[in-house]
Amino acid sequence: MQAKLVLGNWKMNGRHAANVSLLQSMLDDADINREGVGIAAPYPYLAQLAAMFAGSKLAVAAQDVSRYALDGAFTGEVCASMLADMGCRYVLVGHSERRQYFGENDACLREKLQAAVAAGMVPVYCVGETLEEREAGRFAEVVGEQLKTLDAIAGQEYVVAYEPVWAIGTGRVASIEQIDAAHQLILERVLQCHGASASIRVLYGGSVKADNADAILSLASVGGALVGGASLEIKGFGKICQSAKKTL
Ligand code: PGA
Repeated sequence: MQAKLVLGNWKMNGRHAANVSLLQSMLDDADINREGVGIAAPYPYLAQLAAMFAGSKLAVAAQDVSRYALDGAFTGEVCASMLADMGCRYVLVGHSERRQYFGENDACLREKLQAAVAAGMVPVYCVGETLEEREAGRFAEVVGEQLKTLDAIAGQEYVVAYEPVWAIGTGRVASIEQIDAAHQLILERVLQCHGASASIRVLYGGSVKADNADAILSLASVGGALVGGASLEIKGFGKICQSAKKTL
């Protein structure tokens, strides 16, 4: 069985000095410092992560990437090959906060997925429904539509992250039954489109914490976790990584 992947998503948090102590604690913790664990940091700190993680098992990840793949006149943008050059192995694409606050749509996300793959990184493509959509019984339709974007990188290596928007940063976690059902559906859709041979991990994200990680990560349909708030604090993150390790 493939190891479960735990990615911390720091979002727009972190400062150089505080990062040093948090990252050092991660390096010193055998549950965290192993294959299948990584941190997605803001752009300014990627070099710091790459330097501190050098020679360790921890992966560096970015939270976003430009839709423009080639160097040029795109002020403020960071292209995929720059991220790869910095040592990023993973990059989040289409996080719900990007879709919500920055209007990222299907056309833009297709380009981001393609750019990430072309640069040799593994995109972590995020999908998920709002509370309104779930309550209207539109989960399968909404997430199914979001998954179609993956056609842009059919046959390539990628990871999917299922994050119900209503469970992100709210402390409101989806039930184990809801998570399992959503993951089954996503796996089924991905296999339908990309062939039964596709080996695909679907991470769960949305208020994953020390106290719910065991139950979530022990589901066979869950390939790992995308952890926001709890990745900013060593104890909770260590416990989540321990839960993932237990499934090995
Ligand atoms: P959360 O965030 O764990 O703070 O809910 C998850 C995410 O948005 O990736």
